Amino acid sequence: MNPVVAIYPGTFDPITNGHADLVQRAASCFEKVLVAVAGSTGKNTRFSLAERVDLAKTVTASISNVEVISFDGLLVEIARARGARVILRGLRAVSDFEYEFQLANMNRKLACDIETMFLAPDEGYTYISSSLIREISDLGGDVSRFVHPAVEAALRSC
Ligand code: COA
Repeated sequence: MNPVVAIYPGTFDPITNGHADLVQRAASCFEKVLVAVAGSTGKNTRFSLAERVDLAKTVTASISNVEVISFDGLLVEIARARGARVILRGLRAVSDFEYEFQLANMNRKLACDIETMFLAPDEGYTYISSSLIREISDLGGDVSRFVHPAVEAALRSC
């Protein structure tokens, strides 16, 4: 069987230790993992696309089979263009399931040859989300346990 490339899409605004944990787990399962930072997701992002990509690159720099890319347009199109046969998503809690199930089914309708697979992050990260991290940082809270130091610095300076 050919080596399997997996694509892990998200807004990553910003990338957190929860995302990083998932990337680490995926990197040990797949030949290559593409962390795909979405340009247009309908979310009003705190960080520009270039900043989100740079932070994701910094956070994943030590994992040799991970590449960070950005994309606009349909996820399945970038997956196909980059030879990814698997879309990876994290399931933190039951509350994630409904949306993720819908996304997975729609992506399957758009590209039946690409499978969605779910990974569970470490239980210590199940309560983390990018918007909570931004809120805590904005209110002067300590986010150092939840994000890489480069992300913490970026949050402080914006
Ligand atoms: N650890 C910590 N947080 C996590 C996490 C993990 N393992 N997994 C998800 N999250 C959080 C994120 O921080 C984010 O939190 P926030 O909403 O507070 O910012 C939330 O869960 C979900 O965000 P994310 O994982 O970035 O996904 P998303 O829903 O923003 O991204 C895309 C969705 C980019 C995958 C989707 O919009 C997409 O595919 N877009 C491309 C266009 C397309 O193809 N559309 C058709 C789809 S069928």
